[in-house]
Amino acid sequence: MRFDHKHLLGIEPLRPEEITTVLDLADQYVDQNRRAQKHSDALTGLTQINMFFENSTRTQASFEIAGKRLGADVMNMAMQASSIKKGETLIDTAMTLNAMHPDLLVVRHPHSGAVDLLAQKVNCAVLNAGDGRHEHPTQALLDALTIRRAKGRLHRLNIAICGDIAHSRVARSNLILLGKMENRVRLIGPPTLVPGNFAEFGAEIYEDMDEGLKGVDVVMMLRLQKERMDGGFIPSEREYYHRYGLDAAKLAHAKDDAIVMHPGPMNRGVEIDGEIADDINRSVIQEQVEMGVAVRMAAMDLLARNLRETRAQQVMEA
Ligand code: NCD
Repeated sequence: MRFDHKHLLGIEPLRPEEITTVLDLADQYVDQNRRAQKHSDALTGLTQINMFFENSTRTQASFEIAGKRLGADVMNMAMQASSIKKGETLIDTAMTLNAMHPDLLVVRHPHSGAVDLLAQKVNCAVLNAGDGRHEHPTQALLDALTIRRAKGRLHRLNIAICGDIAHSRVARSNLILLGKMENRVRLIGPPTLVPGNFAEFGAEIYEDMDEGLKGVDVVMMLRLQKERMDGGFIPSEREYYHRYGLDAAKLAHAKDDAIVMHPGPMNRGVEIDGEIADDINRSVIQEQVEMGVAVRMAAMDLLARNLRETRAQQVMEA
């Protein structure tokens, strides 16, 4: 099992075999999580701090439960949005953290690149839980695991990522991961929400939903990220739903066995029809949440192994 990284800051630096390593280990944690006895000790004795500079319910809960199941001491630090306006404050935060000797630091931040910066200043393994519009690696990994389990493979699939791609770190991380694993990715949305430069990643861009969904295996819907918009991106939510909201009629263009995904939180009746989201024959949205815990356990386990190895080497050298 190879996973040669100190941090998990994005999908970009991962090799395909490292992605497979995370997913294979996560499969084992899925089994563990389904048993009555859910605990193991990969992180026993280690301290995990979750620092969320942006609101989050499921991602923070998922990291917290993942750490606890592996025996870590888990602490959530509530960060005020006002304390992050200056870059320097982030460095100060890092200094404060170092004094507490955490082993794993899980960070979500509204600015792209802030988590990388923090990782350079702290003495522990850092996991990016979403930075601005940049990356959200554990989301892409959990999506990959969900797809692999539903479709039996993670290559040569046709996958549509639909909606607010411009503001989405989920779309970016997924696009990179799915490309590395040799899938064909289509991006579907209005031009205001699909940046043209995303074609660089080898994706095909569609403005029309029916056209774009033709024959796909996976339909990945994204939340309309209103908090990242400053007006003018869509005419109205009603109009948006009419053209880009996933309903039965639009889904009929995808393959008969196509699965429907959404990272949550969902805006029902905006990007997705509630009935589709709840249709257990099509929607894997609940599975995504389950896979989230397992993938985070796997990622933290692998980083902790590397951390322990590095520290053991340092002791030998000293
Ligand atoms: C995503 C995020 O925060 O980027 N949500 C999540 O991690 N569950 C997507 C979103 O907020 O729409």
